[in-house]
Amino acid sequence: MTHSVLKCPSCNAEYTIDSNIYICGKCGNILDVFHHDMEYSLTNMKGVWKYKNLIHPEIPEKAIITRGEGNTMLYRNARISNYSGVDKIFLKHEGENPTGSFKDRGMTVAVSEAVRLNFNKTLCASTGNTSAAAASYSAFGGIESYVMIPGKNVSANKLFQAIAYGANIVDIEGDFDTAMENVKKAIAKRNDFYILNSLNPWRIEGQKTIIYEIMEKIKPDFITFPAGNLGNTSAFGKALMDLRALGVIDYVPKLVAIQASGASPFYDYINGKEDTIHPVKAETIASAIKIGNPVNYKKAKRAIEFTKGIVEKVTDEQIMEAKREIDRSGIGCEPASAASVAGVKKLKESGIISRGDTVASILTGNILKDVSLVPEHKTLSIQDIFQ
Ligand code: F0G
Repeated sequence: MTHSVLKCPSCNAEYTIDSNIYICGKCGNILDVFHHDMEYSLTNMKGVWKYKNLIHPEIPEKAIITRGEGNTMLYRNARISNYSGVDKIFLKHEGENPTGSFKDRGMTVAVSEAVRLNFNKTLCASTGNTSAAAASYSAFGGIESYVMIPGKNVSANKLFQAIAYGANIVDIEGDFDTAMENVKKAIAKRNDFYILNSLNPWRIEGQKTIIYEIMEKIKPDFITFPAGNLGNTSAFGKALMDLRALGVIDYVPKLVAIQASGASPFYDYINGKEDTIHPVKAETIASAIKIGNPVNYKKAKRAIEFTKGIVEKVTDEQIMEAKREIDRSGIGCEPASAASVAGVKKLKESGIISRGDTVASILTGNILKDVSLVPEHKTLSIQDIFQ
């Protein structure tokens, strides 16, 4: 029988999953969920909960708050192959989740856990997508949500979602990093909020399923994705560790975390061989990844090391150029997501990725998530049609 605990990846201290903690009381590191005697068996449920035995084996089904998240499309498209220079590039579209981003995968698990633990309030900081997912899943589970949003740095569409789903909006002067600091202070001061940021290790468990789904369908050499607070980087590494330990895969694809060049402290940390991460004042057009002080950097480093992965950075121009190609291929995504494909093109040009490699690139958010940047286009007049 699998038995889950909260475990410190640094000092190995273990805590029961019934304790409302995210951070190790002994050494201050962010905790992992650890499944003793994990078994690879799938359930009859669809999407994320098909992998219940790998993410939350012990939760009773009646506590599960699900909107049918997961099981997203993996696209192949000639225009994207031509653009990136890689023939077998597959786009995994997380924008097809119920609230339009990958966050729903983590949120279904974390909000279910809030219900299991009898919380009636949730709290998160967000660049927009987390708050939209937190607001929706909390409301669906009958819980009140509070979201800390740096109003000036969040797309109107994402803010609209959080408001419409009924969240209490806490407007934060400053950026995402300021909001995240306030969440950490709230954790220290109050224990009536259940925290829904990716420092909650159950979020990480849910997001592992992106990788499980990819590895069921293809055998990628590289998996590329935009990186901000580094929750996905951490989750993807953990998913590959699971599959390898359980003997489900016989090799490990390389994880490729792509940062925006104006918000790239993890790039500097890994490539500069620095002792620790140095927070930066983040600046990028891709507001979802405008993060200068990522909380999950230690788990993310573990993921890059385990997969012998890469951290790359791309400029806002490269991001918007890739977005135009993804949009015009008919697939579409929000700006931050396009960093996935911009990174593939850059790594192909520098010879790290080859034309014949198989690449899975994750599109983290839907095209409708940010409509503030309308692409240049020509409008026809009615005469052009009837001439
Ligand atoms: N892509 C999108 C569309 C995102 O919304 C985020 C993060 C990321 C990529 C980066 O993922 O943090 O796991 O490295 N958005 C968070 C939010 C921070 O508040 O919505 P990460």
